[in-house]
Amino acid sequence: MLCGRYAEIASKPGNHPQRAGSNGGQNYPRLEGVLPCFAFFPIIREYLCGTTASSVNEAKLGSYEFGGEVHAYAPAYSEKDIHQLSPLIKHITFNSFSQFHRFKDQVSNINPQVSMGLRINPEYSEVATELYDPCRPCSRLGMTLQHFEGEALERIEGLHFHTMCEQNSDTLERTLKVVEEKFSPYFEQLKWINFGGGHHITRPDYDVDRLCRVLDAFMQKYSLQVYMEPGEAIALNTGILIASVMDVFENDIPLAILDTSATAHMPDVLEMPYRPVIQGAGAPGSKAHTIRLGGLTCLAGDEIGDYAFDQPSESGRPACV
Ligand SMILES: Cc1ncc(COP(=O)(O)O)c(C=O)c1O
Repeated sequence: MLCGRYAEIASKPGNHPQRAGSNGGQNYPRLEGVLPCFAFFPIIREYLCGTTASSVNEAKLGSYEFGGEVHAYAPAYSEKDIHQLSPLIKHITFNSFSQFHRFKDQVSNINPQVSMGLRINPEYSEVATELYDPCRPCSRLGMTLQHFEGEALERIEGLHFHTMCEQNSDTLERTLKVVEEKFSPYFEQLKWINFGGGHHITRPDYDVDRLCRVLDAFMQKYSLQVYMEPGEAIALNTGILIASVMDVFENDIPLAILDTSATAHMPDVLEMPYRPVIQGAGAPGSKAHTIRLGGLTCLAGDEIGDYAFDQPSESGRPACV
């Protein structure tokens, strides 16, 4: 189930056999996961060609436990990071030209097989929440076209962009158009391009056919190995958090304290903000009893949201978030 959509993509009539699966050959896009739940690695491994790590420990996890290709990207590396990462990885993406110049020799000296790339910022994204928008003004993530001026790309073999967040293939199509307009003059000297994550590829309404069309067109036009690194999509809707009501009282509205926390266990609920789906609950006012659910930390804003239930909430009752 977890990877059902990958199997489905691969088995659709007319699709390339390895279209979105593992072991993609040179002409197929390769999917890398971003290290989710490693108890499921044996299942996930069947569908993905490797992992992308943003730290040394993630790279070790990917290398020792997942296998396949290990790629690395981080906004910055230290000398020690490079020393520890280089033996483990196949690709490294630098966030800036300065990091690339600082570490290119060290990487090659430790492991000449590592292919080096650069993260670009195409200055186009469709992410509404600024906190999650890598193309926000003055973003620290990736190099804009302006900063390519005067830089030699010698020894850079790939470009990487990550500008999407829980989006469909129409967003990828529009993003790719901008990436091509801005950066395709450099493609000829490259070997690979990485479309990053944010592809909600396992969601039921994800337009797989469009993804295939977009990838086909891109790969026919350019002889680049294409990588995608969806993370969240690999484990989307596969886990539940079981929490219990610890206390119920009123302050103008009914309030419940749960033995979980938005701040500590679901930070995205505050940051994005997300509204977790709770089994048997509905939108405020849609059922007889509406109550605000809050967490166990002392942060004033540790609130999960307002939910309506058929029954009044009571201490000790479990709620699946
Ligand atoms: C560089 C990069 N690649 C891939 C991902 C995975 O994104 P998602 O989990 O939204 O698919 C992230 C997440 O932030 C990322 O920063």
